[in-house]
Amino acid sequence: MKTKKLLSITLATSLALGALSVPVFAQQPAAQHEIVKNPLDNKVINKINVDNIYNMIDYLQQTPRVASTPEEFAAVQYIKDQFESYGYDVEIQEFEYFGYTTPHTVDLLIDGTSLSPLAFTYTPSGDVQAPLEYVGLATPDELEGKDLSGKIALVQRGSIPFGEKVINAAEKGAVGVIIFNNAAGTINGTLGGADDRFVPTVSITQAQGNNLVSKLNNGETVQASLKVLGASAGLRSSHNVIASKLPTNKNRDNGNVITLTSHHDSVPGAPGANDNASGTAMVLELARVFKNLPTDTEIRFITFGAEELGLLGSRHYVRDLPQEELDRIVANFNLDMVGSRDAGSLVMNTIDGQPNLVTELSQASSLRLNGEPTRFGRGGSSDHVPFGEAGIPAALFIHSPLEPWYHTPQDTIDKISKEKLQDVAEIVGTAIYDYARFDNQTPKQPQRASKQNVPQQMYFEESVE
Ligand code: BES
Ligand code: ZN
Repeated sequence: MKTKKLLSITLATSLALGALSVPVFAQQPAAQHEIVKNPLDNKVINKINVDNIYNMIDYLQQTPRVASTPEEFAAVQYIKDQFESYGYDVEIQEFEYFGYTTPHTVDLLIDGTSLSPLAFTYTPSGDVQAPLEYVGLATPDELEGKDLSGKIALVQRGSIPFGEKVINAAEKGAVGVIIFNNAAGTINGTLGGADDRFVPTVSITQAQGNNLVSKLNNGETVQASLKVLGASAGLRSSHNVIASKLPTNKNRDNGNVITLTSHHDSVPGAPGANDNASGTAMVLELARVFKNLPTDTEIRFITFGAEELGLLGSRHYVRDLPQEELDRIVANFNLDMVGSRDAGSLVMNTIDGQPNLVTELSQASSLRLNGEPTRFGRGGSSDHVPFGEAGIPAALFIHSPLEPWYHTPQDTIDKISKEKLQDVAEIVGTAIYDYARFDNQTPKQPQRASKQNVPQQMYFEESVE
């Protein structure tokens, strides 16, 4: 039988009383919750220094930290240095992925006039001067028997994917491709994925394309100069930073691991003070807080790279672990956007919207601290997802609704609230300590906490994404 620590008396009582009437807290106004303090929470709370969190956010948000850039690597070094200054050994886990860098220069001159084109994602770089040839939709039928050697193909949008048009034209010898829209507006398109057969490809509007087609139909020669500079596709590397607090006493090691995670990368152009210097600085501060607290559970602090490109760091971390190591992880607390002054209230997102050990411990701690259990709902979009998909109880801590600065250059330190940081750090820190601390007379079993131990659902919100 898998076991875990008892819940606080208040929570256990309300669960017992509420067993037949779910959801328990949804039915009761806040004022009716009796706050039963647990003095052991103060072991964590008294050590949290919110100024440390704030100052680390301030440091990290000086530049965007886009995956695989020198700025992301500088953040990795900073995080490593911080962990080491608290006395941790640090592992930097490198991983590779196939990435694409967008061009810094995109231009198309026709007879000396710029058409302000847009680049397709995955276009290669190139600088070509050649006459235009109109090839319709650039389907294999339309290109049958054509020789586009030394030409830039002018192509209309529609019928087949952009990438296929480019390959069809390039295989007939085209040195560049211009695709014009078949409706009003610009094309913000992708060629679908990198391909060695591609040639430089940009888009123009329908009006611009029609104008060029009529010139060509009138028998004019149209000379074009197409420039795409700085684009490249290829292997990139990014890094996860891992620091572990092993159980204090080898004889009381229950074999279980709690992971406390965040991502340290940001999107281009965004300093990412809240997304996600906030979660990263909180992971660091809680690592400092826990360093000398006696625990019988391993607490593993991890910051992930390349989350913004599709959870790449956390997917790599989970995929890389053998099953018996995954089986030891009882919980993943993932902090992502935990300090915005302009966002809503705290919510925990699980991948299935169901409660689990993480939401249970955190509802118990928030109830003890604030008299209100933190709400939870269903949601993905962050590094708890690979853990959840591996069957590990996992939740994202985030404020909802999001602030307007999300993924913008305005995601800066002046929007960070120390009160929000303090609140989340206390709830998460005491939730983890409640499970990991050393005072329980009943040793925890060296197995993942059973899903059957999950209490009655206390509060449910359909979706908070
Ligand atoms: N910090 C956000 C997480 C998030 C969660 C935003 C829920 C909004 C709602 C995260 O860094 C992010 O931006 N995630 C991406 C998806 C990811 C898989 C690339 C997103 O939500 O667009
Ligand atoms: Zn984020």
